[in-house]
Amino acid sequence: MTNPTVASILARQSVREYKPVQISSEAMEVLVAAALRAPSGRNSQPCHVRFFQRAEELRAMQVDFKNIVGWDTPVHTRSDKNPFYHNAPTFAFIFAESDSRMDAGLMAENICIAAQSLELGTCIVASVGALFADAAAGKKWREILEIPAHFIFQIGICIGYPDEQPEWKPRNAGQVRVIGEKR
Ligand SMILES: Cc1cc2nc3c(=O)[nH]c(=O)nc-3n(C[C@H](O)[C@H](O)[C@H](O)COP(=O)(O)O)c2cc1C
Repeated sequence: MTNPTVASILARQSVREYKPVQISSEAMEVLVAAALRAPSGRNSQPCHVRFFQRAEELRAMQVDFKNIVGWDTPVHTRSDKNPFYHNAPTFAFIFAESDSRMDAGLMAENICIAAQSLELGTCIVASVGALFADAAAGKKWREILEIPAHFIFQIGICIGYPDEQPEWKPRNAGQVRVIGEKR
């Protein structure tokens, strides 16, 4: 049994190589709508998202990030080769006034599945949180992202047209069980 929604969920993988092409404005509109339609506890809508598309500033952010975590420190997958944003043309930063990881995670997956349905690749990124945890760099980059100084970084997402076919990451099937009626 399948349909386009299920197909998008099953096809999503983390993409860490992107074509140097910005995503279309039509696709951007869909991703904004997908972010806004995400559920949140009691519809509290704690998450604020910035879809950031300034390549030069992302590069500068990577320099600040590495100055904080260390240039030889592999803080995320493929950090030896790629910046935290994996050279994606768009990077979504999700913040909230108080820690709201559940809501942020649901919003992130909404964005990722909507992106997948538009043949865009994504990679969820937590590592850049170290930048926002640093007082000086955090203040500087929150200002650039037009985010209040006290907001807490929740999660980031690389978004762009994939330039790789990643291998399928294994899953532990035994962790998911159906407990139905006894026969
Ligand atoms: C909460 C969370 C944080 C993650 N942080 C990073 C990250 O900082 N850098 C990165 O390259 N991938 C990151 N990932 C991607 C995971 O490594 C990836 O989802 C996992 O290896 C499974 O692979 P798949 O997404 O291709 O199925 C993160 C994923 C999640 C859900």
